[in-house]
Amino acid sequence: MTLTAAARLVERPEASARLRYAIDELDGTIREIRSTIFALQTPAGAPGLRARLVALVESARAQLGFLPALRLDGGLDTRVPGGIGDHLLAVVREGLSNVVRHARATRTTVSVCVEGSRLTLAVEDDGIGIPAQGRRSGLLNLRERAEALGGSCTAGPRPDGGTCLRWSVPLPPPGEACDED
Ligand SMILES: Nc1ncnc2c1ncn2[C@@H]1O[C@H](COP(=O)(O)OP(=O)(O)OP(=O)(O)O)[C@@H](O)[C@H]1O
Ligand SMILES: [Mg+2]
Repeated sequence: MTLTAAARLVERPEASARLRYAIDELDGTIREIRSTIFALQTPAGAPGLRARLVALVESARAQLGFLPALRLDGGLDTRVPGGIGDHLLAVVREGLSNVVRHARATRTTVSVCVEGSRLTLAVEDDGIGIPAQGRRSGLLNLRERAEALGGSCTAGPRPDGGTCLRWSVPLPPPGEACDED
């Protein structure tokens, strides 16, 4: 917050852009620490969805050359049934593999959010952007997975450049969610 206030006082645009970049980086680090703490709090036994997401995102670091930022919001371990969690992990894996293989990105953010009765994932990167037309293979599979669950999947350009993959599916009402399936 001190840095955000300072960024407003700095007059040189180049310096304030650098400050803002540093603030974004710090925010990302804070989010990662939070996610890790959540993951560590998951009871012993099979790792929960949060922990599996943290591990998956960390495993992409070597291929990407940088650690993706991870934002986790809402009751991932309480509201998402195992089957949907497995789909979600497969979608994150494909999204990150696309960033590694196609994007030429320097940053990527994986955001997973449970809000109301919806699970939404976004994998964003600052790379070269996705061609409007062209062959779709892994992405087609992601759309089919979403539609089979009554949801949707889109991949398109971000306003500031790069690509955003968005995957969103409905969740069962609270209380029914974590039955084995
Ligand atoms: N994050 C991205 N940045 C830039 N281009 C992308 C990105 N994701 C996908 N693309 C483009 O969209 C195309 C289709 O992606 P899709 O995942 O469907 O297939 P693929 O990755 O080429 O093959 P597969 O997923 O079967 O290994 C890619 O070949 C690539 O050109
Ligand atoms: Mg692919």
